[in-house]
Amino acid sequence: MNSSRDGTARRSTRCNSIALLVCIWLWVLPAGAQPAQSGIATAHPLATRAGEEILAAGGNAFDAAVAISAALAVVEPYASGLGGGGFWLLHEAGSGRQVLIDGREVAPAAATRDMYLDAQGQPQATLSTSGPLAAAIPGEPAALAHIAKHYGRLPLATSLAPAIRYAEQGIEASRGIGMGLTFRAEAARNSPAFSAIYLPGGKPVQAGTTLRFRDLARTLRKLAAEGHDGFYRGSVARQLVAGVQAAGGIWTRDDLAAYKVVEREPIRVQYRDATLVMAPPPSSGGVVIGDALNILRAWDLGRLQSVERKHLTVEALRRAYRDRAMYLGDPAFVPMPIERLLNPWYADGQRTSIRLDRATPSDALPGIEPAVSGGTNTTHFSVLDKAGNRVAGTLSINTWFGAVFIPPGTGVILNNEMDDFSIKSGTPNSFELLGAEANAIAPGKRMLSSMSPTFIESPRGVAILGTPGGSRIISMVLLSALAWMDGGDAQEMVSLKRFHHQYYPDVVVYEEGALTAGEKAGLEARGHKLEPSPRSFGNMQVITWDRATGKVDAASDPRGGGEVTVY
Ligand code: GLY
Repeated sequence: MNSSRDGTARRSTRCNSIALLVCIWLWVLPAGAQPAQSGIATAHPLATRAGEEILAAGGNAFDAAVAISAALAVVEPYASGLGGGGFWLLHEAGSGRQVLIDGREVAPAAATRDMYLDAQGQPQATLSTSGPLAAAIPGEPAALAHIAKHYGRLPLATSLAPAIRYAEQGIEASRGIGMGLTFRAEAARNSPAFSAIYLPGGKPVQAGTTLRFRDLARTLRKLAAEGHDGFYRGSVARQLVAGVQAAGGIWTRDDLAAYKVVEREPIRVQYRDATLVMAPPPSSGGVVIGDALNILRAWDLGRLQSVERKHLTVEALRRAYRDRAMYLGDPAFVPMPIERLLNPWYADGQRTSIRLDRATPSDALPGIEPAVSGGTNTTHFSVLDKAGNRVAGTLSINTWFGAVFIPPGTGVILNNEMDDFSIKSGTPNSFELLGAEANAIAPGKRMLSSMSPTFIESPRGVAILGTPGGSRIISMVLLSALAWMDGGDAQEMVSLKRFHHQYYPDVVVYEEGALTAGEKAGLEARGHKLEPSPRSFGNMQVITWDRATGKVDAASDPRGGGEVTVY
């Protein structure tokens, strides 16, 4: 296990004895080992085409990532966009360097710890989910400019060109847009600029309608022409702030001018012969997945009955999500015991309370007081070029259509990521996630995220994966990582039926088909409370590369309308 955050490590350099051979093997990989093909997997065919177009124009995986991210802002506007943020996990083939580009949103300077509480100290949920007060300062435009400048081969303007074309020429409204509007149409009525596009004549647009985004195209053109400052200073910044303030929001131009991308050292965790490379805080993904894998590593899961394996996975998730709620937040604001949480000895301690025959009630674990609240939208893409450069990108505006608010003239749908803060300690957010002091609101602070872009590297090869799904992202990535490490392929990873536990609420949520009748009986006999999910969840995008053959494989979640290309 290695969880270096000092900015200097290139690959896992502090290996424990179990992992030593694997580390040596990874170091002595033949220099020429590289994929025979490129691969792209995204949640929308036009985003995949945008990536393809940029690779064909001589771009690398990083240029393609910029093109895909910007295209997703146009074609999947309910999930991510210029008004939101994300994490882009990069691997540079030539140097072996790996870095997480943190384009997470930050709280504006006027944000206060209790800004969403009423006079009685109760959370006012709509304020943190709809309208400009729910929006944090966006990070995606800065991240795209940063990736193009420092990692790409092509000018930013070239990589943004497909998105600009889509916005100007128009796209067909997807089923996702229609579905998102069924959830958010009411809140949208408060934003005339949003309603003008998505609720023409007061009615939600139907799937198949052509949508044009002239204001968004203009904003994208400013970003293309002027880079970072094209969004964070000048006319776009003025329009953003004017629109936010006119509708009761608290952004200032200084907030926008102060936004900075952060480069972070990924978290690396060794599991059997594989190294998982994952997002560090302010993403909770790497820590929670690492914590859970460290707990699970003591069992030979393949030799257990399936019900035991699922029981143990739930118990590991319960404990790892508890740690998320207790300890994690923005590293610039809170000291976090990351080394301890990812130390195998810590997992040894956590394991002592796990019994094979009985579930541990979450409230039997030392923790924070539970209380109750419900959402999900985000997107993920994976890309690999023939040189071996790769990106796992997970981007979000938080729930469907974010804050459902567009500052007039910008075309930019603002996020509602402020709701990912712990609005009140011990009170769950839209994803029913509990949070504590570590994730309390503060000016300039990044809110804790579940987005988990991940690489898995082993002698077998490499997997690039991630998914949307709010708090369930972490368990989905864990289940698919276990599937790949057990020999599964990309299609199996995206298709497998999912179950989830997040410490609180103390229930195992599962998709239809995820648990057999026998497994349900076995889990209930152990004391687990089971809750069928009314709908499937996740929209995973995976690329794998087989080191021995060079063969690249890609798969897009059958639950979504994504598309892959390998060529
Ligand atoms: N907004 C979802 C997440 O960052 O986890």
